Amino acid sequence: MTIALIDRYRSRLPVSERTPVISLGEGSTPLLHAPRLSERLGAEIWLKWEASNPTGSYKDRGMTVAVSKAAEDGAEAVICASTGNTAASAAAYAARAGIPAVVLTPEGAVAGAKVAQTRMLGARVLEVRGDFDEALAAAQELARRGTHVLVNSVNPYRRAGQKTAVFEIVEELGGAPDAFVIPYGGGGNTSAYAQGLEELGLTTPIYSVEAEHRPTTMASAIRIGDPVHAESVRAAHANIVTVSDDEIIAAWLELAAVEGLFCEPSSAAGLAAIRRGAVPGERLAVTITGHGLKDTENADRYAPKLSQVDADPDAIAAAARA
Ligand code: F0G
Repeated sequence: MTIALIDRYRSRLPVSERTPVISLGEGSTPLLHAPRLSERLGAEIWLKWEASNPTGSYKDRGMTVAVSKAAEDGAEAVICASTGNTAASAAAYAARAGIPAVVLTPEGAVAGAKVAQTRMLGARVLEVRGDFDEALAAAQELARRGTHVLVNSVNPYRRAGQKTAVFEIVEELGGAPDAFVIPYGGGGNTSAYAQGLEELGLTTPIYSVEAEHRPTTMASAIRIGDPVHAESVRAAHANIVTVSDDEIIAAWLELAAVEGLFCEPSSAAGLAAIRRGAVPGERLAVTITGHGLKDTENADRYAPKLSQVDADPDAIAAAARA
């Protein structure tokens, strides 16, 4: 039986009997041991496969809580700014709740599949002539005016939902790993993980991995110039690691080819940090935040090339060996 994240962790979330549970069956995602990567990288690697959430990213953990609370409070509409995944998640949960969603995306800077997904889910998608930071500032201002409930991770209900990934990992491993390794875009997830650890009474280090060239990285999900949670990331004493796009791409291709997990580029940032030796520890929990099908343009660009062949068994056998 599918259990809603809010029901699984009800006692540790800011919900009550009066809160309507707006759920699509999020959370309870697989924690996969990665035997071949572990051998290559010299550490016991566990992959938290967040792509198996209903809209294909970890955002659904927070969105179920944020939209359930918005519904409880009688919200007329929700709004977010997004590099694509928050957008799809907000659209899905708003649809489920019967509340309109307005989504602001930086024009031309979001993976096409994410925009299509968000439009399919019925959100009003507005491309902002500006970057993510400018879109977020506009969304925050509209939320201040009281017309729209903001469901970016500055909304504390989002972070409350996202902290549950830490609970699942620790429960499943039967204890804390030596480190948690996650991508660092705006930093909402880092502060959510820090909150989860604090509630468990743990001091396990978090490694938050950002792109070297934040405003232009090919990993569009974390293309954020000015992280809104930078202060709380510092306060949480998270270890910030910076990786290049080449390192992200190499880790992304390796994860797919070696462990069979096709994620989006940003989700491989944590592995890129481990590959360069920036994360000490014997047992590492690495969160793979979003699905590869969300960014097929980059997959098409970087995956091994296609080749053509005649419908002839000998030609096919020869081509397959090449
Ligand atoms: N991984 C993925 C797949 C993301 O979509 C994001 C952020 C991150 C990692 C970084 O997490 O911002 O909490 O540090 N995506 C946001 C969005 C910005 O709009 O979907 P963070």
